[in-house]
Order: sequence, then C-alpha cells, then structure tokens
Amino acid sequence: MNARPDAASLPIRLADYRAPAWRVERVELDFELGIDATEVTAKLLLRRDPAQHAPLRLDGENLELLAIALDGQPLPATAYRTIEGGLEVDGARDGSVLETRVRVLPAANTALEGLYLSGPRETGFLLTQCEAQGFRHITYFPDRPDVQSSYTVTLRADRARFPVLLAGGNPDGAGELPGGRHWARFADPHPRPSYLFALVAGRLEKIERDYRTADGRDVQLKIWAEADAIASCHYAMDALERSMRWDEQAYGRNYDLDVFHVVATHDFNMGAMENKGLNIFNTKCLLADPDSSTDDEYRRVEAVVAHEYFHNWSGNRVTCRDWFQLSLKEGFTVFREQSFSADMNSAPLKRIEDVALLRRAQFPEDAGPLAHPVRPAEYREINNFYTATVYEKGAELVRMLAGRLGAEGFRRGTDLYFSRNDGRAATIEDFLAALGEANGIDLTPYLAWYGQAGTPRLKAHGEYDAARREYALTLAQYTPPGAGQPHKQALPIPVKLALFGADGRMLPLHLDGQTAATEAVVVLTEAEQHFVFRDVAERPVPSLLRGFSAPVILECDYTPAELALLLGHDPDGFNRWEAGQQLALRACDALRDDADPQAVAAWCDALAALFDDAQLDAALLADLLTPPGEIELAERESVVDPARIHALRQQLQRRLAARIGGGKLDARYRALAAQSTAALDAASQASRRLKQRVLHLLALLDPASACDHAATQYRDAPGMTDRLGALAVLARHDGVRGTESLAHYRARYANDPLALDKWFALQAQLPGEGALARVQALEADPAFTLKNPNRARALLGTFASGNPTGFHRADGAGYRLYAERLLALDALNPQIAARLATAFNGWQRLEPRRREAAHAVLATLSAHDGLSRNLAEILGNMLK
Ligand code: ARG
Ligand code: ZN
Repeated sequence: MNARPDAASLPIRLADYRAPAWRVERVELDFELGIDATEVTAKLLLRRDPAQHAPLRLDGENLELLAIALDGQPLPATAYRTIEGGLEVDGARDGSVLETRVRVLPAANTALEGLYLSGPRETGFLLTQCEAQGFRHITYFPDRPDVQSSYTVTLRADRARFPVLLAGGNPDGAGELPGGRHWARFADPHPRPSYLFALVAGRLEKIERDYRTADGRDVQLKIWAEADAIASCHYAMDALERSMRWDEQAYGRNYDLDVFHVVATHDFNMGAMENKGLNIFNTKCLLADPDSSTDDEYRRVEAVVAHEYFHNWSGNRVTCRDWFQLSLKEGFTVFREQSFSADMNSAPLKRIEDVALLRRAQFPEDAGPLAHPVRPAEYREINNFYTATVYEKGAELVRMLAGRLGAEGFRRGTDLYFSRNDGRAATIEDFLAALGEANGIDLTPYLAWYGQAGTPRLKAHGEYDAARREYALTLAQYTPPGAGQPHKQALPIPVKLALFGADGRMLPLHLDGQTAATEAVVVLTEAEQHFVFRDVAERPVPSLLRGFSAPVILECDYTPAELALLLGHDPDGFNRWEAGQQLALRACDALRDDADPQAVAAWCDALAALFDDAQLDAALLADLLTPPGEIELAERESVVDPARIHALRQQLQRRLAARIGGGKLDARYRALAAQSTAALDAASQASRRLKQRVLHLLALLDPASACDHAATQYRDAPGMTDRLGALAVLARHDGVRGTESLAHYRARYANDPLALDKWFALQAQLPGEGALARVQALEADPAFTLKNPNRARALLGTFASGNPTGFHRADGAGYRLYAERLLALDALNPQIAARLATAFNGWQRLEPRRREAAHAVLATLSAHDGLSRNLAEILGNMLK
C-alpha cells in the first residue's frame, strides 16, 4: 500500500483539461483522531454532469478502505475497485450519497502531506497539509480545485491528549463523549476546494484579539502554538491586524468568517498555507522575538502573514480552475503582499529586495533546464511547480498589468475580478478579462507572458542629434530559445524611463507631441521600436526600466561615468541601486579581464562619495555597498568556475573597502555601534544593516580589528540581528573566537529550533576547503535530523545553494555527499528532496571538471530504483 506512484507516468497537460464529470455538493467528514491511526468517515453528496458519462472516480492514496456504502447500502466488492491512485465506484447517480470509512497513519507520515504528526509522539500534535493534492491522503475524493463543496467537519478525540480541536469554517458545536473523549464540529458557509481543508488537534496554547471588519463583522483572531512558542506570536498578531486593515482599504476586501485561526508548526514543507479560516504556518514564518529573530525575519513574518491572509480572497473566494492556473492565486497574492510590505516599510528597499530575489532565484530557473512558463503547459508532479517562476515572476506580470492600468484602473479591475468570479474556480484568462473590461483595454497581449518561458533581453541604444535637439531611443527585445520553445515571440514590455542632464537633473520629456512631466512609460510591443524625444537640450543619460517596470535583462551601452551619474542622482531609489549594480558588474568584468580600470574606479569613487553623504538612508547605503551576489555573477558567464567568481567578488569588495579606507570604515562602525538598541523601527533596522555591511567590509581590510569589534558586538548584542551578524564575522575570520562563540551560541539556544537552524545555516555557508568536512561534522550534531524540513534546509540546502565554493568543490565530493542525502531524504519526504535537488540547476554551464562530476552524480542518482515522482521529474528535466 505504500507503493510509489509510477515515477515514469505520463505528464498532465493543460490542453487536456476537462470539467469534472462528478462534483461533490456537500461533504460531511468525521474524524476519530489517533496518533498512530485515525479513522475518517466521509459522506459525499454527488452531482453528475448530465453531458458526461464517465464513471465515478475518486482520488485516494495510502488509504486503507474499511467500509463503503452508496445511498445507505453497503457496496458489494464487485461494485467498486481500486485503480491507480484511487477508487472507481459503480451505480452512482446524480444526488447519490457515497459514504466511505478509511484508516490513515499520521505518525508514519514522514512526507508531511495529508494528516501527520508534528513533534514527538508523546507531546506532538496532529495537523494537515492538503495543497496541492494532500486531501486524497485523507479520504477518497475528486481532489481537484474545480470541485467546490460545503464542508461540515466533526473531530472526535481523547480530551487529555487532544484538548484543542480545530478545523476550517465557523464553530458549530462541541461536547463531551464517554471515556474521556470529546468532539467539536465546524461548518464552512463558503463552498471551497479540497486543497483548503485543514484540521489541527493537540495541546496548543493561544493568544487572541477581537477585530471588527470595515463591513461590521466581529471576528475573533486566534494564533495557536505549542507552549514554548506562544510568547513569540504577538508580532504575527499585529501583522495580521495590519494585513486585514490594508486589504479593506487597498482592495475593499473584508474577512468573511467569525473566527480566523493561525497555527504554528516546526514541521512544514513550505512557508505557510492559507486553509480557509485555519492558516497553518511554518514557525520560521510566524514566530518573532528580538532575542531569536533577525530584522529580516521580522519583515518576512509580516510578509508571509499578509500573504496567507490575502489568499482569503485571491485564492479562496476566487480559486484556480486547475493547477496550471497556480499563478492566478500565487502571483497575484505575492504582488498584493509586495504592495502591502512597501506601504508598511520602505518602498524602494522592498523593491530592491524583491528584484534581488527574482534575479537570484527566478532568472537562473528561467535560464536552465527547469525553465517553465508562469503558466506551465504540463507537469508530472504539481508540487514541483511551486517555483520562483510561478510566484515571483507571476507577481511581476501582475505588477506590469497594474502599471498599465494605473492605481484606480487596477482597483476597478480587481473589483470586477472578485465580484464576477466569487465562489468560482477561475483562469488566468478570467483575470485578464476582468482587468481589461473594467478599463476598456484589451490585455490579451499580456497572455503571451504567461505562456512563454525565459527572461527577455531588452537592448537599449540612444542617439542624440544636437542640431535637431532630438534623442532617439531604440529598444529591441530578444528571448533565447528554451523550455521546448525554439522561437519566442515579442512580448509587451513596459519601460518606465526618465532622461538626465549632465548636472544630474531630470529633463522634461516631449514624446509624440505629448509633454509628460519628467517620467514616462513606453511600451515595446515589437521586436524593435524607436522612440524619439524632442526638444532635448543636451545629450541625456537615460534611466530605463525604473522601479524594474518589467522582468527583463536590460542591456544598455552605458559608460561607467553615465552609470556613476545615475548612481549619484537618480531619485528613483531602485534605479539608483540598479545603476550601482550595473557599475559593479562592469567593475567585476574589468577585474576579471584585467581591463578597463575606470570601471573599478568609477564604482569605488561613486560609493566612497555616497559613504560620506549624511542625507542618504542607511539601509539604502548598505544595499548600495553590496555588489551582486555570486549566483548573479555566475549567470552572466558562459562557463562557470564558482571558486574564481568567489575570489573575484571578494577582490572587488576589498577594492571598495580600500577606497573608502579603513579609518573611515572603523569610525562609521563605531558611530553606528554607539547607537545600538533592540528597537525595531525602520531607522534602527537601517542602522544595524549598515553597521553589518561596514563591519564586513572592514573585515576584508583589517580582519583583526573587525573581529575585535565583532567579539564585543557578539557579547553585548541587544538582539539577534547584531548577535548573528557578529557571529558570522567571527566564524569567518577568527579561528579561536569563532569556535568559542559558535559553541556559546549552540548552548545558549539549545532549546530554540529556529535559532539553531540559523547556527547550522551560518556554518554551512562558510566558504573554502573545510566546508564539506564542516557539514559532515554538523550532521553528527545530535540536533541534526533529515526529518525536519527546516533543519535539512538549514544545513544541506544552505550548503548547496549558499556556499558555491564549498558545494562546487572541484573534486565533486560536495556533489556526491549531497546526492546521498537527497536519496535518503527522498525516502522520507519527496517534496523536500525534489526541492533541494534544484540546487544542481546550472550544472551544464560549469567548467568541464565540475560539469563532469555533477553529471556523473546526477546520472547515478536518476538511475536509482524507486525514486519518488517528485525527485524523478526534477532529475529528468535536469538531464534533458
Ligand atoms: N499556497 C501556499 C502559499 O501560500 C503554498 C503551499 C504549497 N504547498 C505544497 N506542498 N506545494 O504559498
Ligand atoms: Zn501563496
């Protein structure tokens, strides 16, 4: 019964979509909960599509069928049969009621999909994860998002072992049962797909708050966690309230049940899950307290709480017709979260962070063997498609649409989208149609973005004609072939732009007879187009793609001096940072090829000047002082040598540190350290960020004095940001104090899993020769386990994705160890194994020795018997 689904099974295709032949109007679920075994009784009121004659087929996996009856009559064994991945039942009619009873085994469920146990069997609690297809691990059901049903759920369990019983929907009764047992019932007035089902049962504590929605509903907000974690949930509660208020104002969306539950678990495959009325979070994305969370983690908690809450409309009230439409809810919801976070914090910093993530995670995906469109055309294992492309690129597509319509037009469009599709399972076409119709604009050209993989390259070239006072900008686009798409079409690319004079001021724009202010958006729709600006007083420097107005790679023939001008003056915070990044890339190329010393000097000089600019926001300065990461640098190479890229980036930063000067770095560090507090306001966070960056640069110049500062900072740190930052510097630059501080931290946080994850991750990232041995030693730490996804990711995932020199050892030993662990993980948790395997993405472009080593490891791994469908699909694509 534990047989793996056929790893070589045929792909599922969007083109084959058919509406369900059978729907379920009402579901009554009854759970007899137990840690080792739980019995689930399901009563389904069936509806048949009169136009289709397919037999009744229900999905079901790893279920032990105990009883089955149709319309009250037990079914003889001849009237139903188990088929691959489910059950086929004869004799059902429209209006029939099918009743099944099955047994599932929560404690044995290491895949963390369906019903499972979080924590030790004596003290842990039961919970579910159903997206995408976990519900079929709980009961027999047409487990697809276009089947929407009304749910009534009854939970029964031993009261002492499971004092708290929760399911989605509104509470609908509770009471005692004989033998120390009790029950609780929940009814959801909103029909919903099975992937949004959830239950939680166990010993949990809560915090609560009353909330009144803008449309007058009184809602109880409750956050649940195990006793040792509940005190760290207050920040999430504040973030939840802010999210609810924001969605009322920004999108006119109100919450629609009387209770909203949020539950925290340490054992979770993803970040969090938006189950209707019962969101479940990885503790990593929910708990926040100054002693164990960094500033970045605080922002992440706020963002994920908002994301899951926003799904109540973009995902739950309006859901997806099929899983190909996943970005309909995920891309839109990421975009909603990005706008919320920009409003709550600094908008330019949020944009910089999101674009950096896109470039680090999505661009490489889009350029390699795992590339797929935002709306894929086919998949074998849907869990492999919760990707940066579907989420982050999907959000960029929504951002382009929002930009095209303007704030008011976009709101008109989303209002129409929500009202027209409420209670429906929708498609990307429905989304574009509503946004377009509300504004009288045809948005169908944007559909091409959803179907075409690959990152477009945007080439820009400007010509100034002094005699005619005209500036002609030529824009051209090209998307390289890939992902089974040999010829890519031209896409609509909105380019927000401004022109700068030599004094660093923006020039007025005269385009097509229109006079805008100093900023305009031109949309490139063809392979190549010219845009002529008139009455331009001097040769301008263009600031292109402001705010990153489209997810493309811009290639523009700037001189270093022009980039330096934008870096010094562009009031668009994002483009200012971007000019610095482009200049850093030039500087990096110059160092590599031993050429163009001006590029290095231009970058260093411009940043040295900004370093002295007292007006500049400290957090922006910190980001400006950070060159593109090693992954981004590798993306630009046709042959990748990770060790060389690492050395180059270090060299570049050392040049910057030297140009600013040790004295100035030291003075700035001391000034920032003197203001150190535990406060979480933006200015305090910004000052910590800059302090860490300055310390890092100082360490490249003068490791001894940087480590003295770090030792003091570690000892006196008022919070985790400072403590972890200091620890990273010590661990990297000071053998003795590094080891001591790591041991001290290990003991101080022995009982704090999230703080321990950071301890594993920090060490997994330490570059160089010793990295692999260090990882092996850490695997022997009693706190290490492959069974907890956070822990496996912290050590192994960080090693493979965050330690290029360690993982990509030239002898291939890093790959071999990693592949062994993937195999072990695959037997426990296929989703996590497949996710971690994507760290091999890009292996084809490695220099020959590493490439051969990686290839050998991947080929051996993929030839292994009994791989999960998840891992088999990733490896298969990787080797295609
Ligand atoms: N819908 C969740 C989110 O908000 C992600 C859950 C995906 N889970 C999975 N096992 N694929 O992003
Ligand atoms: Zn989501």
